Amino acid sequence: MKKNKEDLRSKEWFGTNDKMGFVHRSWLRNQGYPNDMFQGKPVIGICNTWSELTPCNGHLREFAEIVKKGVLEAGGFPLEFPVMSLGETIMRPTTMLFRNLASMDVEESIRANPLDGIVLLTGCDKTTPSTIMGACSVDLPTIVVPGGPMLNGKFRGGEIGSGSFNWMIKEKKKRDKFTEEDFLEAEICAARSAGHCNTMGTASTMATMAEALGLTLPGASAIPAVDARKKVMAQLSGRKIVEMVNEDLKLSKILTREAFENAIVVNAAVGGSTNLIVHLLAIAGRIGVPLKLEDFDEIGSKIPLLVNLMPSGKHLMEDYFYAGGLPVVLKELKSKLHKTITVNGKSLHENCEKSTCYNEEVIAKMDAPFQKDAGIAVLKGNLCENGAVIKPSAATPELMKHRGKAVVFTSMDDYHARVDDPDLDIDANSVIVLQNVGPKGYPGMPEVGNVDLPEKLIMQGVKDMVRISDGRMSGTAYGTVVLHVSPEAAIGGTLALVKDGDYIELDVENRKLHLDVTEEELAERRAAWKPPQPHTDRGYVKIYLNHVEQADKGADFDILVGGSGSEVKGDLH
Ligand code: FES
Ligand code: MG
Repeated sequence: MKKNKEDLRSKEWFGTNDKMGFVHRSWLRNQGYPNDMFQGKPVIGICNTWSELTPCNGHLREFAEIVKKGVLEAGGFPLEFPVMSLGETIMRPTTMLFRNLASMDVEESIRANPLDGIVLLTGCDKTTPSTIMGACSVDLPTIVVPGGPMLNGKFRGGEIGSGSFNWMIKEKKKRDKFTEEDFLEAEICAARSAGHCNTMGTASTMATMAEALGLTLPGASAIPAVDARKKVMAQLSGRKIVEMVNEDLKLSKILTREAFENAIVVNAAVGGSTNLIVHLLAIAGRIGVPLKLEDFDEIGSKIPLLVNLMPSGKHLMEDYFYAGGLPVVLKELKSKLHKTITVNGKSLHENCEKSTCYNEEVIAKMDAPFQKDAGIAVLKGNLCENGAVIKPSAATPELMKHRGKAVVFTSMDDYHARVDDPDLDIDANSVIVLQNVGPKGYPGMPEVGNVDLPEKLIMQGVKDMVRISDGRMSGTAYGTVVLHVSPEAAIGGTLALVKDGDYIELDVENRKLHLDVTEEELAERRAAWKPPQPHTDRGYVKIYLNHVEQADKGADFDILVGGSGSEVKGDLH
């Protein structure tokens, strides 16, 4: 049903002939707008995560202007507004501490203002889930404009992935004798244009997720940030959101349970980040779709890996775009995907019909995948009663079934202080256990799960070891790394009770993570366990500590799950 102008939400502000109508219109007109420019027109909020402190989103200011052109062309009225931006490479201790805060900013900014439709300008990892979460709790027509990846990194004749290279630095220094000069050169070569990380790291994963959920125009997620086609996509998205308002195509009509299942399937096929789990669970919670940790395994773990991108493979996002991008992957996956509706009113299936693969080295066919079963494995056992996760496509096959002695670090400080101690009792068979880096433990659940191996083992040529923690891992990282252990150590999960020398069994095929210590011994240790000191007694972090849920629930705040709708609240005077 078409929305007529009498039904527009913004009419509550601009459409009344009284004192409040005068106030709303008059002040807005100080920008020089004729009165007929916004009255009776769909008002489109352009929610911008641009910030100089978020380098990955540095080009989004220009993009807002491009979106505005499209909105105006389609008969809408665009108003750009800033929200808290989360820059992965700069914010301390971790952007994840602020994802829920940013989502609150987005939610309240949308609800409190005269907006009929929303464009989310996103890029760096958390800027996508935080804005979608906030928008879901209001549930207006919403479209995502992903900022796009950087161009491929080029370094001394080879390719270098922004993000993934970081994890080699310790090795490069020690084994390849990289000098300061080498690193200075590599820095700019890894990040040589505007845009977010050019691997299938979390930012690319989140943009892919948005497209798979149906929240972007078809093909939008892989276009490099500096490609002219990205600007075209931004302008067309501006036009589209006006249509979506006219059709009342709200988020809740697109974000069905089936759409979430599609996102899980697609994430497996592209070798996406484990961070998808906490973000998708949180988004589902906001829009009221039941989704649980086990769904990621049940729906995604038998899906083949079709995309050959770092960190699971060897290419970068630019190659993937030239190969045809996500529409090609969707077409391959067709039989596994639900026919869900997307922002352009067509189904995911219709949108990818005409796609062609131009490079099978980068995007494989279903019958000749890069790996048979990709996706995410959800582990259970006495060490993780509520689950833990591992990304098999980024792990070492030989370590997927492993029994080894624990070497326990009680915090990141403890790890840094001792990991390179030549006397540390550790070998390639050991299992590195990192405690207290979960949602409450750090706090913020940082991306430290893939801790570097001890220097002495690197020098022996050891490339990977089993690592277990309640933290996360960057989407650009790799290794046999068990993450998101729940319940976390800081609230007394079994992870807190592990001691040096305990045997741990990892068996990914059977989805098992077992601490080989008797029930009696564990009960004794549990009785003696003391919770760590709270990190603070004030401010946002205190709110965070009081309300954050465990990783298996998406680490949202308990008080933010669900939504409060788009109802317009009372007058301001
Ligand atoms: Fe922003 Fe990787 S640091 S996307
Ligand atoms: Mg990242």
